[in-house]
Amino acid sequence: MSENTTLEAIKYTPGHLEILDQLALPHETIYEQVKTIEDGHAAIKTMKTRGAPAIAIVAALSLAVDVSARHARGEFGQSAATAFTFLENSLEYLKTSRPTAVNLFDAANKLSAINQQAASIDSATASSVVQTYVQAAEQMLVDDVQDNKNIGKHGADFIIKNVKNNKDISVLTHCNTGSLATAGWGTALGIIRDLHARGDLTHAYCTETRPYNQGSRLTAYELVYEKIPATLICDSMASALLNQNTSVQAIIVGADRVAANGDTANKIGTYQLAITAKHHGILFIVAAPSTSIDLNTKTGEDIVIEERPPEELTNVTGIRLVDGKPTPTTVRTAAQHIGVWNPSFDVTPNELISAIVTEKGVVVKKSGEAFDMTSFLLS
Ligand code: MRU
Repeated sequence: MSENTTLEAIKYTPGHLEILDQLALPHETIYEQVKTIEDGHAAIKTMKTRGAPAIAIVAALSLAVDVSARHARGEFGQSAATAFTFLENSLEYLKTSRPTAVNLFDAANKLSAINQQAASIDSATASSVVQTYVQAAEQMLVDDVQDNKNIGKHGADFIIKNVKNNKDISVLTHCNTGSLATAGWGTALGIIRDLHARGDLTHAYCTETRPYNQGSRLTAYELVYEKIPATLICDSMASALLNQNTSVQAIIVGADRVAANGDTANKIGTYQLAITAKHHGILFIVAAPSTSIDLNTKTGEDIVIEERPPEELTNVTGIRLVDGKPTPTTVRTAAQHIGVWNPSFDVTPNELISAIVTEKGVVVKKSGEAFDMTSFLLS
């Protein structure tokens, strides 16, 4: 699949941002314009945009289009301070959209530092502050694609070198970590794409990823789109698959936050996959850009796990034909009045993780120790 035919979750040209509504996939391809920070916040909170890197980029770009429009309308006058205050308040607001993926907070902090520097220059004007912000946000979009390609390469190299039988490599992945979850290419799915492109992939399996079905709706869609030989399983089938298919030699997942010791928050269900990988003696690989590493979070215990509405668990949404027209329909499958616990993420302890693959390279543990993400990032 050539580069320009891959799925695009984020379409951006200066002053104009559109996001692919991931709630409508795989049935309909609907792009929605994001004009304001409120639009960006809502797209992230309702999960029209989702996936740690994509969340950060849509937040940053929603502010880029919003601040540009306000500046064009003269709302800041010539005042660098007024533009700066708007940018800072907006970043704080965007950070309240979803709590677990650290990429959003990392992006907001980096952009805030850039704003402060731009506003502190003696000759600063509203124009210079706005322009500096917009350029920095646009650069994040560009950098993410290249980072993902590097993750894909490093991850594929690592797997080929470390599996027991490199002539027959199948992999299992969870949630959606592909073009839809990033600015393009993907992290864990980027590694799968790289293996496939090299002719080194026998088969990919993806989990359904209950309750939100990012696997069956989004990853399955991307795998079919990319013509990668693939099979969908539901989350509870993973151990049975590993038990009977020795070709599956690695489980590859993404990350929403990697703590300094390598403990990793990712989509609910990741932890149980890591346990089964260990039991079956196969690789368990976390693939994430370095913007997912949070050195301020020492261990997984400090990670805030988002809890989502019960309806995501008790109901399912699909498409049915109404007067010949595909119409989204939600039905309840759970018993009435049952209590519900719906954490969106879980934390996989570092001892279950074989390697953390980033755009800068692969991190492994020294025997008997945790990952040292601090030395890796700061060296
Ligand atoms: O709730 P979501 O769909 O935003 O969760 C996404 C995941 O957990 C992904 O695995 C993670 O963000 C990595 S995306 C490259």
